[in-house]
Amino acid sequence: MQAIAVRVAEEAADLVRQAREAMLTGEPVQVDTKSTETDVVTAVDRASERLIRRRLAELRPGDGVLGEEEGGPAGGDGVTWVVDPIDGTVNFLYGLPGFAVSVAAQVDGASVAGAVVEPASGRCWTAVRGQGAWLDGRRLHVSAPPRLDLTLVGTGFSYDPARRARQAKVVAELVPRVRDIRRAGAASLDLCAVAAGWLDAYAEHGLHRWDWAAGALIAAEAGALVTLPGEDPELGEDVTFAAAPSIAEPLRALLIELGLPEA
Ligand code: IPD
Ligand code: CA
Ligand code: CA
Ligand code: CA
Repeated sequence: MQAIAVRVAEEAADLVRQAREAMLTGEPVQVDTKSTETDVVTAVDRASERLIRRRLAELRPGDGVLGEEEGGPAGGDGVTWVVDPIDGTVNFLYGLPGFAVSVAAQVDGASVAGAVVEPASGRCWTAVRGQGAWLDGRRLHVSAPPRLDLTLVGTGFSYDPARRARQAKVVAELVPRVRDIRRAGAASLDLCAVAAGWLDAYAEHGLHRWDWAAGALIAAEAGALVTLPGEDPELGEDVTFAAAPSIAEPLRALLIELGLPEA
């Protein structure tokens, strides 16, 4: 299943990379909006998901597929593939390199294998439950920050304006308590960054299953403490949290104190 996740994610990443190159030379791309004016989807997001669905139907006929742009069952019997055809669409649209194709295989709602491929760099992140996480074949391990005030924290903001305002308040109070904050623009890559020690922790309110399905497994298999939406009653239904074990508990407590679960 890992090999299939890698294969289809890399094929889709090739498509997205070529589309990016065309865009950067001035070719227009079709853009539509979804929940708000700033929640965008491009023709390339849709084409990437179509390709992944077609390849999964060939390689794993009978499995379920849940994708951001076409929906699908969240669970069911057997294997469900959970797909974000471009994670970081706003970066993609602006020509920034921080976007990825994310593909995970889930059984009973839990990820068992996953791949995150970053078209602009060609990096391929992957993990298998119980076996570890890798970046381009190199085994990954999380960082070990000694204290919360020396912790680099990644986060992101949902598209809903009211929720963004609440998230901004949490961030404003968090900034002076940690080393710094990063908002890179793709949840899957934020989770991979925790896996590699490029971030010490990551927390976001309001992710969807396709945002975290592969990245959370990669972070967990690299040794991060990971809490998925609904798993921790105090973090609530909407918070995704991944952190190096050395600072996980104080950071979790601080995020609860600052109100991230209600953001
Ligand atoms: C978004 C990105 C972003 C995160 C948002 C997601 P999309 O996904 O992962 O970093 O902050 O919550 O919705 O829409 O670019 O696939
Ligand atoms: Ca989207
Ligand atoms: Ca996403
Ligand atoms: Ca997406």
